[in-house]
Amino acid sequence: MKKSFGFLFAAAALALASFDVNAQAPTADIPADMNALMSKYTCIACHRPNQKLVGPAYVDVAKKKYSNEEIVKLIYTPVPSHWPGYPPMAPMTQVPKEDALKLATWINSLDKTPAKKGGKGKSKKA
Ligand code: HEC
Repeated sequence: MKKSFGFLFAAAALALASFDVNAQAPTADIPADMNALMSKYTCIACHRPNQKLVGPAYVDVAKKKYSNEEIVKLIYTPVPSHWPGYPPMAPMTQVPKEDALKLATWINSLDKTPAKKGGKGKSKKA
C-alpha cells in the first residue's frame, strides 16, 4: 500500500515536472554547475538559455551587452521596463554575490556576437 502511494506520488511529480518545462524540457544545454545554481535559486522556473519562458531566454539577455556586474545588479534590482511584455521579475536578493556573478558570467557567455564594450551603452539610466 505504502509503496504504491509512493509510486503514484513520484509519477505525479514527474508529470508535473514535465508539464512545467513545456515542449522538449531543454535543460540539456545548461552546464551542470549552472543548473545547480539555477535550481537552488529557482531561476530555472522562469529562465532557459535558449528559450523564452516566463522570463527572457538568457541568450537574449546576453545580446543586451551588459557587463557581468550590471547583470548582478539586475538580479538584485530588476528593471522590468527592459522587457516590455514580460511580468516583472522579483528581486532575487537571496543569491550571494559570488553565485550571482557566476550566473552573470555564464549568461554573458551565451552571446556569440562580438562584444561592444565601452560603446554607446544604453543601460546607464539611474
Ligand atoms: C518567477 C520568475 C523568475 C524567476 C524565478 C527569475 N526570473 Fe529573471 N526574469 C524574469 C522576468 C519575467 C524577467 C523580465 C522582466 C524583468 O526584468 O523584470 C527577468 C529578467 C531577468 C534578467 C534580465 C534583466 C534585464 O534587465 O535585462 C536576468 C539577467 C535575469 N532575469 C536573471 C535571473 C536569475 C539569475 C534568476 C535566479 C537567481 C532569475 N532571473 C529568476 C522572471 C524570473
